[in-house]
Amino acid sequence: MKETSKKQIRALSCFSTEKEFLTSIEKKAEKEKIPITGHSVCRFLELFCFTKNPEKILEIGCGLGYSSYFLIKNLKGSYLGIDLNTGRLKEAEHLLKSIFKDKDITFHSGNAIDVLKNIDLSFDLVFIDAAKAQYPDYLKALMGKVKKNSYIAADNILYKGLVFEGPLPGHHKNSVAGIREYLYLVSNTCNFNTRIFDIGDGISVSEVL
Ligand SMILES: C[S@@+](CC[C@H](N)C(=O)[O-])C[C@H]1O[C@@H](n2cnc3c(N)ncnc32)[C@H](O)[C@@H]1O
Repeated sequence: MKETSKKQIRALSCFSTEKEFLTSIEKKAEKEKIPITGHSVCRFLELFCFTKNPEKILEIGCGLGYSSYFLIKNLKGSYLGIDLNTGRLKEAEHLLKSIFKDKDITFHSGNAIDVLKNIDLSFDLVFIDAAKAQYPDYLKALMGKVKKNSYIAADNILYKGLVFEGPLPGHHKNSVAGIREYLYLVSNTCNFNTRIFDIGDGISVSEVL
């Protein structure tokens, strides 16, 4: 068999293993009603990491590790995942450490705001996907931990279309208010250059200036 065909077969078998792995998490999340990041947003994160190559990645709200997989896939440096839910975090840790045996990945359980106070690290890419009402607090906790030219991405930034819709809705009020304040902070201060993409439930990417 030609070398190119062998390579193609290897790539295809990696892809089907990946698909199997992702489908198993998607099924578990659906069955147990555990929120995971949308697939299109995850592929966007994968492409972002592949092209920008951030050395140190932080994820706030790694949950079952679905989005983490895409952040870690092309990782050459280190990854830290934080989640309040210890059970979920342990599952993510077990899964991802068994797939990415040689990568520098760490998981920390706890409230990201407290965890960040106690770590002396800085990051090149931060992905926020935890409590929407707390997005402004995560941003404040990140100050001093993101340097010039690093990026902060935040998921669910359009929040079912409610974020740009006038008065605060009764239901989801705190989440929508949190996202609105976050967007105000990353759009109206001179520290960030922010873009919003209408992928999935919306993702913002802010470059630190
Ligand atoms: C939408 S889920 C994350 C899904 C994850 N990105 C994935 O794709 O598997 C949100 C997660 O944020 C976590 N969370 C909520 N508030 C938090 C906080 N203050 N600090 C850390 N994690 C938090 C929840 O436990 C939950 O697992």
